[in-house]
Amino acid sequence: MTPVLNDGPVLFLFMERTPTMKNFKTKILSNEEISPGYFRMKILTSGIAQHARPGQFIMFRVQRSLPPLLRRPFGIFQTGLLAPDCDGLPPREFLEILYKVVGSGTEIMSRLHEGDLVEVLGPLGKGFDLGDSGREKILVGGGIGLVPLYMLAQELTKTSHVRLLMGGRTRDDILAVTEFGRLGVETYVSTDDGSLGEEGFVTQVLERKLKKFPGASVYACGPMPMLDAVQKICRAHKVPLQVSLEALMACGVGACLGCVVKGSGHTEENPRYLCSCKEGPVFRAEQLDWGKLGDEQGFCEGCKS
Ligand SMILES: Cc1cc2nc3c(=O)[nH]c(=O)nc-3n(C[C@H](O)[C@H](O)[C@H](O)COP(=O)(O)OP(=O)(O)OC[C@H]3O[C@@H](n4cnc5c(N)ncnc54)[C@H](O)[C@@H]3O)c2cc1C
Ligand code: FES
Repeated sequence: MTPVLNDGPVLFLFMERTPTMKNFKTKILSNEEISPGYFRMKILTSGIAQHARPGQFIMFRVQRSLPPLLRRPFGIFQTGLLAPDCDGLPPREFLEILYKVVGSGTEIMSRLHEGDLVEVLGPLGKGFDLGDSGREKILVGGGIGLVPLYMLAQELTKTSHVRLLMGGRTRDDILAVTEFGRLGVETYVSTDDGSLGEEGFVTQVLERKLKKFPGASVYACGPMPMLDAVQKICRAHKVPLQVSLEALMACGVGACLGCVVKGSGHTEENPRYLCSCKEGPVFRAEQLDWGKLGDEQGFCEGCKS
């Protein structure tokens, strides 16, 4: 695996590097469709896995010659170690992402195979604060939004009881239930069409669980309407909430300001912007201006409705 500086001098001039951030070309170990339109990709890494924190992400680019040229952000699903290639060598480090095919970049990714070369920059951003150990934890994941919650669950289950409320439009949008189960996470599934688990929105389940466990802390990732509904419920129940935003991103390192969201207290006279890739993607709910979220961020039409 060769470390490279191939985003051009401009990005690297403006980018504030952290000691653990790496940019390198690497190999795909596997890339499988796990549900219609959803893929799980395992890549070889060096020095990312050991430093990655729950909620951080990577910027991913297929080979330089291919459009789209911009990297795409993906949450880190999990990291780990593989047996070495030969006796005497150290174990190999890997990282996994789960992604949904939505446009040109993810469509190209879905056609990649074992052995193909890709470029990865990471780990990036600010992850979840693990909160008070021992306190009940409720994770709320909408569709592909469950990705950053898995590493979080790995950490939280060491000290707390963890419940995962997972929602999707249909059964095809419900992923990785078995993996969460193996961690000892109590999982509740809901789908809009009732094809798996309870019929209805994941937020209905959250309402019920917060009545039963009023001292819980909540962590959520998913589409904006779901996050907005979750923050309203958490505010009403006066429980702490952290959300991971999937704002559109171009550079991922604080250089382009394409990912800014409005912070709480923002006004025209006193603008307060938060850089989602550097100050986030995880925020405490009260840091954000929920009324304005999505206005300038180019969230897809479906997310705005
Ligand atoms: C921090 C972070 C973590 C993410 N983690 C994951 C992940 O783990 N798995 C995953 O599948 N996706 C994740 N995403 C979203 C992913 O980056 C986009 O789906 C991807 O960049 C789309 O690339 P594309 O070229 O296929 O689509 P494009 O051609 O760029 O876009 C296709 C359509 O999707 C919309 N779109 C693109 N990005 C987003 C977004 N962030 N939110 C809403 N709509 C969007 C566009 O507006 C457009 O309508 C994450 C995004 C961020 C910011
Ligand atoms: S994506 Fe460029 S500053 Fe955040």
